[in-house]
Amino acid sequence: MEAYNFLKLKPLLVHALLLSLSLIASFANAETHYRKFVVQDTPVKRLCRTPHVMTVNGQFPGPTLQVRNGDTLIVKVLNSGRYNVTLHWHGVRQLRNPWADGPAYVTQCPIQPGATYTYRFTIENQEGTLWWHAHSKWLRATVYGALIIYPKIGCPYPFPKPTHEIPILLGEWWNRDPMSVLRQAQFTGAAPNISDAYTINGQPGDLYSCSSHGTARFAINSGDTILLRIINAAMNQQLFFQVAGHQLTVVEADAAYTKPFTTSTLMLGPGQTTNVLLTANQAPGRYYMAARAYASASPNVPFDNTTTTAILEYRSASRTAMPILPQLPAFNDTATVTRFTSQIKSLSEVKVPTKIDENLFFTVGLGFLNCIPGPRCQGPNNTRFAASMNNVSFVLPRKWSLLQAYYQSIPGVFTTDFPPVPPVKFDYTGNVSRALWRPVFYTKVYKMKFGSSVQIVLQDTAIFSTEDHPMHIHGYEFYVVGQGFGNFNPRTDPAKFNLVDPPLRNTIDVPVGGWAVIRFVADNPGVWFMHCHIDSHLTWGLAMAFLVENGEGELQSIVPPPADLPPC
Ligand code: C2O
Repeated sequence: MEAYNFLKLKPLLVHALLLSLSLIASFANAETHYRKFVVQDTPVKRLCRTPHVMTVNGQFPGPTLQVRNGDTLIVKVLNSGRYNVTLHWHGVRQLRNPWADGPAYVTQCPIQPGATYTYRFTIENQEGTLWWHAHSKWLRATVYGALIIYPKIGCPYPFPKPTHEIPILLGEWWNRDPMSVLRQAQFTGAAPNISDAYTINGQPGDLYSCSSHGTARFAINSGDTILLRIINAAMNQQLFFQVAGHQLTVVEADAAYTKPFTTSTLMLGPGQTTNVLLTANQAPGRYYMAARAYASASPNVPFDNTTTTAILEYRSASRTAMPILPQLPAFNDTATVTRFTSQIKSLSEVKVPTKIDENLFFTVGLGFLNCIPGPRCQGPNNTRFAASMNNVSFVLPRKWSLLQAYYQSIPGVFTTDFPPVPPVKFDYTGNVSRALWRPVFYTKVYKMKFGSSVQIVLQDTAIFSTEDHPMHIHGYEFYVVGQGFGNFNPRTDPAKFNLVDPPLRNTIDVPVGGWAVIRFVADNPGVWFMHCHIDSHLTWGLAMAFLVENGEGELQSIVPPPADLPPC
């Protein structure tokens, strides 16, 4: 009797077993990664000084996260440091999940000393090199790391498989706690002190005194193909990058594949990433990779003009051979930048929005506040520095994040009247009248309907000096359909737009004294920060935020906030 029942049940059991196996198989590819990030005060020795700076888990740069497309990350952050902190996953779309995005007072209140917050998010249809960094005050100077997203298992790269991969994090180093650099600048109103060094993977390299023992070295074999995953994590500076004697084939930018092209020079704005293939096809030897400033503002604006290096060494080469230095472009070589950026195109044809619902025009540039001469009035000609978009210098709220205020309908935190076009039209890149140098200070967002097709013309201004601004949008990637110099001309410039294979990016370097036009579909509800990724400019207010409303559909609303969302 029992045997009979069992036999009758067996096909059912087998069926159930097969079903659950196939379910497991379909999820087996997606993994959940648990990480603990302790933000802590750490003595870090560089250039023979040992300032105490914030790090994650005592590491500088912080840990590299390696995941696959489709994976989930659960990062528990414990703030053991002395400052409020948040973390941002730069370039991760965070679909419907702005609570995990991280910018302080935009999507969350900061994690206070002693407190924890867990970032939970899934990588959805993204692969390539991204990174994570602190997003509160100037903590990101030392609190950052690579976030590498590999394709799903069984999905190859759309380029020859490299022999190995090397993350290259370009950074900026001060011989003191960067938070005190910020504090000083906020007190005086002047530009913050320039950095003391640039770094590759946290090390300034051989060209600085008291530094060569730590220089990053990468051993390779002749014939290897190496994928360099380059991240510009510097605070305030666009950087040129080269490897002596070697050509670089660009295959990806901001975690989007590009049509491969070969170049000797890269330029990355802060926030941007670029993947390149390098073939070890030179005489076995030691070659410097090097980065230094692309400084586009007028020559009297000070910048750190030092050069950071690391060493690429062929295993068969003599250990004592002097490494060869590359010939980096002049610091103001905009022609090289234009030649480089104009070659970046999407790998294949893409679907660019053509019917535009939101046609926006944002000026990006500096500004000034007149002040009474004194210690708090150290900007040029009795001013304090400011910066703005459409003349609004962005002010962060203090008691609520914008997202919480929106979600809980808390009045008085922000207004939704961010101007879609500049309040006054002027010759943006010409000789701007001083009467237009003073911005207004508000917390304004721009509200958009779910699913709107958006075009933004980003226009540099000549207030104080024209300058290349790396503009970053949270929660989105966008197509860069056009770029140019001077004032954008709405009659003639659209004819030159690339609507076939424009690059998809999360950070666009708006050309110095020029413009860039970007397009995207507002398909991710929430509050999303848009700002210049030069932190001195961000500090001065070169930012705004989009409020993308929920859609009607089932998967078109933001998810509820996590229970441990920090209070202000
Ligand atoms: Cu990588 Cu809001 O920034």
